[in-house]
Amino acid sequence: MNPFSFYLVTDTHYFEPSLGASGKAFEEYMQREQYFMAESSDIVRAAFSKIAEDESVDTVIIPGDLSKNGEIESHKSFVKELYKLRDSGKKIFVITAGHDYGEKSRAFVGDERIEVEGTPFGILREMYADFGYSQALAVDESTLSYIAEIAPKVRMLAINCDSEGNPKGEVDDRLGEWIKGRLDEAKKDGCSVFAICHYPLIPSVPVFDLVGDAKLRNWRKTASLLADNGVEFIMTGHMHIQSINEYVSERGNKIIDICTSCLGGSPAKYRKISVDGDKLSVESFDTPDFGCDTKGMSLQEHFDNQFRLSIRNRILGALSGGKGVGAFFKKIGKKILSDITVGGLGRLLWIKVDKPIKKKKFMDFACDLGIAVFKGDMPYGKGTPEGDAIARVLKRFRFVIKKIEPKLSKNGVSVDLTDMLLNTISNNKGFSDNNAVLSLNGKQR
Ligand SMILES: [Fe+2]
Ligand SMILES: [Fe+2]
Repeated sequence: MNPFSFYLVTDTHYFEPSLGASGKAFEEYMQREQYFMAESSDIVRAAFSKIAEDESVDTVIIPGDLSKNGEIESHKSFVKELYKLRDSGKKIFVITAGHDYGEKSRAFVGDERIEVEGTPFGILREMYADFGYSQALAVDESTLSYIAEIAPKVRMLAINCDSEGNPKGEVDDRLGEWIKGRLDEAKKDGCSVFAICHYPLIPSVPVFDLVGDAKLRNWRKTASLLADNGVEFIMTGHMHIQSINEYVSERGNKIIDICTSCLGGSPAKYRKISVDGDKLSVESFDTPDFGCDTKGMSLQEHFDNQFRLSIRNRILGALSGGKGVGAFFKKIGKKILSDITVGGLGRLLWIKVDKPIKKKKFMDFACDLGIAVFKGDMPYGKGTPEGDAIARVLKRFRFVIKKIEPKLSKNGVSVDLTDMLLNTISNNKGFSDNNAVLSLNGKQR
């Protein structure tokens, strides 16, 4: 590929603060939210001004979930920020996603959660006309997917899988044909192509293959379509996770998926991507200081703390409610999980737990594990107290796992749950999820 570089920011979830983001209902809502909502406009401004400072890169790409939940006022304000960034000399390309349209827009005023005006899918093209659509060589009108030449002889295929013209989180046959047509044209014109899509193309961590919308639903088919037609890498978001993965199609063509975290929630990163010939360089940066009170913590700890709160409350929420015997067991489970240490749980399950984590509260252990997985470069491999404890649990429950695995297998792809889980908590890929130099040698055009 000809040399070029760009910044990748995703899942900005911009919320216009004057709509209302305070009060009791808001505080309750934030108990379970991963990212900062009231501060999202400050976060976007801080990140955009940092990016504007770098005169060596003239392109910024944002693959969806631009607004919090499709509030039209959030879009209007976000577009103003995009124009400011453009005025600093950047070309900006976006696609929209599921959080950018529909009737689910809410704000928080006083003790109330109130409905606010949403955004119809049909007006997104006009709203973001200057950020991709007017530069496009072709637009698929029903999904608002497009292709644009963003550097000499380099085209970006923007695949929109959250639209009213295609099943959510999927590339259907019609969209697949439209993509194939654009890739054939690029080949004829001697252009290289990379792609963006809101949904991860490849499950970010192996266990996400079991989670419906954690990746494109027909990801193997779509990955093969792209790889076999010359697309060498794709930039994605949606799961708010830092991951880099490679997939090789049956015909032997490689595609790399670089999934980036939410800008305003732990791990709170954005990326700089540089391509030169066969070399793809990925650099990750922390979301910059946006002037908030971090209560004595570092900014990264402040982000992690919000994520920790949401994981904890989601676990406890899953153990609440219900009726009769179910509610009784949930209550006991909640009590045990809130108080027990990892060592205590180990004793209950007859599993050896290594000293460094014995006294750690199980809930803290679970939160740390969740946060680590989303940061990428998962550190809990063989030989670590955490990795070994989880491996022992999986071994202890092998008889249950063996019964579950056939039920999880789909489309003739068998599932090794133990392997999936162990590779989810440790990075055995041979490259980092955050800063990596990869080879783009999978091209067979
Ligand atoms: Fe998102
Ligand atoms: Fe999303």
